[in-house]
Order: sequence, then structure tokens, then C-alpha cells
Amino acid sequence: MTAFFLMGLLCHGICEWASAHTPDNAVEQRSAFSVARTSSMEGGPKMVVTFDKAYVNIGHDFDPKTGIFRCRIPGAYYFSFTVGKFPHKDLSVMLMKNKNEVQVIIYDENYGEERKVQSQSAMLQLDFGDTVWLRLHGDPKYAIYSNTGHYTTFNGYLIYPDTYPYQKTRQQDTIHSYEKEVGHHHGFADDMQSDQTIQKAEEEEGEDEEHEEEDPRSAFSVARTQSIVGQDTDIAKHIPIIFDTDFVNIGEDFNVSSGIFTCRVPGTYYFSFNIGKLPHKIMSVKLMKNHLEVQAMIYNDSDGKKALQSQSLMLTLQREDTIWLFSHQHDGYGAYSNHGKYITFTGFLVYPELPRHRPQLTRKPEKKI
Ligand SMILES: *[C@@H]1O[C@H](CO)[C@@H](O)[C@H](O)[C@H]1NC(C)=O
Ligand SMILES: *[C@@H]1O[C@H](CO)[C@@H](O)[C@H](O)[C@H]1NC(C)=O
Repeated sequence: MTAFFLMGLLCHGICEWASAHTPDNAVEQRSAFSVARTSSMEGGPKMVVTFDKAYVNIGHDFDPKTGIFRCRIPGAYYFSFTVGKFPHKDLSVMLMKNKNEVQVIIYDENYGEERKVQSQSAMLQLDFGDTVWLRLHGDPKYAIYSNTGHYTTFNGYLIYPDTYPYQKTRQQDTIHSYEKEVGHHHGFADDMQSDQTIQKAEEEEGEDEEHEEEDPRSAFSVARTQSIVGQDTDIAKHIPIIFDTDFVNIGEDFNVSSGIFTCRVPGTYYFSFNIGKLPHKIMSVKLMKNHLEVQAMIYNDSDGKKALQSQSLMLTLQREDTIWLFSHQHDGYGAYSNHGKYITFTGFLVYPELPRHRPQLTRKPEKKI
């Protein structure tokens, strides 16, 4: 255990050093897992969902036996999970960061015979030693279903390690509502040190990076804790869904209060969104690019169920392109959420557009520490 911890710490230091010298070479900075459960699990005192099949476990940061992911490389991670509903049981599974609830999957149709799967996803900013895990509700009326068909899966991977040179100057501004809410404050002593290391490395190497003055990263993950109820009075306006919580907003390209992501770094982006169904309402949500519909989600079933629907896709964007979600605004339509954050929206840059020509570098950006 101690050896593992020390190794993690050692690697942490080396990786930071390596990354400072070669920010584009992520070889030293890999962390990814994808695991499955081959049996069902009923709610009980042991609430951590464990796994018995690992497809991928790069860096061994996920321990399938305990069900816990432990952050070794500080940075922004994408997590997604899918759980199966057990016949005649309720479904309630939470994505947890340390001891705090991040988001929930719920499907409360306890008499329902049916089996079905539900999915959620979010990005989280993690510090060294932070844990991420899935929690099944402790009451035995809750259960998750799985068998050799692997209905229940959990995935996570590192998108941006914190050792990007641009992270440090911005980090203090980007401790967002979620972190404040859970009272989880970070120490910046390590960051300051690596900042100096990075600065030194840059001075030694000279300047040959592409985006000198801008953060080359872009990622957001936001949630809404209130339902949306369509009203006929609003139909003239095409209003984006707005959000009240941001897990991650690297580059500040997502405006939470307007609900609009504006592309700053041209390139190819991955987007995913999850929406809760409001009982007795039709769910109809669209992913919009500028003023065009790109992808639609619909759930037209006037029953009293709460359920989640998920969609994802990749898009290539130009600077100033906007991406937003639109919920159909007529009476009878709606989307469900509460503190469980059933309405979430995530996007991140996968590959920046290759530069056509190298921009001229005339001056060094000012460094703030
Ligand atoms: C975000 O959107 C709100 C509402 O549209 C607007 O008032 C505000 O200026 C925007 N913020 C930024 C940083 O663009
Ligand atoms: C929803 O379903 C009802 C009955 O099945 C149908 O009459 C109605 O047109 C549907 N609405 C939408 C928007 O698909």
C-alpha cells in the first residue's frame, strides 16, 4: 500500500517534469479504465459498486475489487457509467467524488417487469488522491442488474493533466460552485512549484509552441438542478437550457448563465448530454450548432416514470461556432432534474485543428503566478 503510494508520488513528479518539457507528448500522463460487472447487486450496507471485469486499466488507478478510482495524475477526467435496472426493483446509483455526490441515475418503476439500462457522464477536476466511485442506494428495494451481458459498466479517463503550463495561472479563478459547495479546497503549494519548473523549462527550450497566448485546452461539464417545464407563452423564444453548476470549465468557453458554448479553439470536439424525463411530460431536447439542429432526443410516453436519456457525438467547429441545448418549449414538454443533477452537458476538445502556418511569435506572454 505504502509502496504503491510512493510509486504514485514518484511517477507524479516525473510525469510533471516530463510533461513540462514535452506538453504534447502525453505518454507519461496516461490514466484510463473501463470495467464491467457480470452479476447483479442488491442495496445493502456495502454500497460501493465493485467490478469483476476490466477491459482497460491503464495506470492501474482503478481497483475493481474495491470499486474505487484513485487519482494519481491531477487533472480533468471524463467519467461515464451505465447501470442496468433490476426487475421489480428501483434504481438509484450515484457518481461520487470522495464523500460527495456528483450526479445520480434514477429510475423508479419498482413494479416494472422490464430490464433497461441508464447512463450518465460528467467531467471532474481531480487532485492527487481524490477518489471516484459509484454508490448504490443502501436500501434492499434498490438493485442493479447485470450478468455476462455486462449491462453495468464504468469508464473514466484523463483528458487534461494539470501540468499544462496554462492551467496554473487560471486555476485559482476556476474553483467553481461545486467545489465551494462541497467545501473541498485545494492547496496550491505544489502548483506554484511546478509553475516555476515549467517556466524554467520554457526559458531553457526557447519558444516553439503553437498557441502562446491562449489556453489550448477547452472543456466544460455543467449540470442543472432544476426541472424545465414548457409553457406556451415561451414558444416564440428559442431559449437555450441554462445551468447552475459547473464541474469543469477549462478555458471558460461555456457561459453557464446563457447556456452557450462558444468555440475559441477550432478543432474536433466531443459532446454528451443527459436529460431526465419529467413524469407526464414529453421530453424533446436538441443539440444545436449555431441555429441548426444537430442531434435530437425524444421520449414521448405520458406515464409517470422518471428516467434518463443520453446522447453523444463529435463535431468539428470553427472559431465562434456556438453549441447549446434546446428543450421544446410547448406546454406538455419538459425535463426533470433536482439536486441529483439529471440534466448534464459535457464537451471537450479532442483534437485541435492543425495550424496551416505557424503564427509569428513576437513576444512572450506575461507570466502570472
Ligand atoms: C454570459 O451570458 C450572460 C447572459 O446572456 C451575459 O450577460 C454575460 O455577459 C455572458 N458572459 C460572458 C463572459 O460572456
Ligand atoms: C406523442 O404520442 C402521442 C400518442 O402516442 C401522439 O399522439 C403525439 O403526436 C406524440 N407527440 C410527439 C411530439 O411525438
